[in-house]
Amino acid sequence: MDLTKNTEEKNKSTPIAAHTPVLLNETIRALDPQPGEFFVDGTAGEAGHMRAILEKIGPNGKYLAIDWNKKNVERLAREFADDSRVTVLNMNFADIPEALRGKKADGLLLDLGFSSGELESGRGFSFQKDEPLLMTYSDDQEPLYKILKRLSEKEIFEILKLTGERYSRPMAKAIFRAERRSPIKTTGELVEVLKKAVPRKYEYGRLNLGTRAFLGFRIYVNRELDNLKDILEAIPEIIVSKGRVAVITFQSLEDKTVKEIFKKQAKEGKAELLYPKPIDPSLQEIRSNPRSRSAKLRAIRVI
Ligand SMILES: C[S@@+](CC[C@H](N)C(=O)[O-])C[C@H]1O[C@@H](n2cnc3c(N)ncnc32)[C@H](O)[C@@H]1O
Repeated sequence: MDLTKNTEEKNKSTPIAAHTPVLLNETIRALDPQPGEFFVDGTAGEAGHMRAILEKIGPNGKYLAIDWNKKNVERLAREFADDSRVTVLNMNFADIPEALRGKKADGLLLDLGFSSGELESGRGFSFQKDEPLLMTYSDDQEPLYKILKRLSEKEIFEILKLTGERYSRPMAKAIFRAERRSPIKTTGELVEVLKKAVPRKYEYGRLNLGTRAFLGFRIYVNRELDNLKDILEAIPEIIVSKGRVAVITFQSLEDKTVKEIFKKQAKEGKAELLYPKPIDPSLQEIRSNPRSRSAKLRAIRVI
């Protein structure tokens, strides 16, 4: 699997500033929000896409903004406190069907992964910082430093291998042993263990040594692929006929999941693919927002 083509932290020197919405125009085109429509945003984050959609749905539209991260939700609730169209909920997007209680939306947006703000928020998402080893979006989830205490070497190996990490076996062995000696509590400690487990030249390769390992742990801790599958499979029960769904991914495991589920729904006559291939950011967007370089947009219209 080539994660170098679609990997969130590929650009080692990317400066992280305020969150810039990725593939914004392309996403709006795919979702085609109309005045008065009801949209669900499963990853509202810093409201970049949200503001643009709100403009299109106008004064009679409705918007359900969801995020797993409490801080993001608090910020959204403050910003949109006076906007009666907006409801903000702190939850996992996998639980959207329960939150909607039978109501259907005209559109759904998922812009996966973490926001620029979250990378800076001390949640342990970045291997370039020394922070508590959480890797969770929500404080209600069990952090990685606790999970590591009970994982076997084989389980760690499976987590790392999923991302195509070449040194999964020595890395898993090193993490397991280090954890038994003295529990790994920070991202800095984890990176030190990884460094010792791989040949020195690997550390300076094109992909940073922590890229795949951190991605594997983040997927595992947050059950990211399961959450994604759950919500995508629920599309027929939560989106109206002719409703639109757009998903932006930043790594190939997620993109593959979206591709397969959308393809299956199209084959079963439940949806129509809006594009035969994923939409990539333009060179201009990549230049102005390097974080966008691994993004891919896929979209469907429900039949
Ligand atoms: C890439 S950011 C979204 C940015 C947003 N579209 C914007 O323009 O500001 C992804 C957001 O999804 C949230 N998130 C990740 N997984 C989630 C999940 N399973 N359920 C709900 N929110 C999730 C993260 O906390 C983060 O705020």
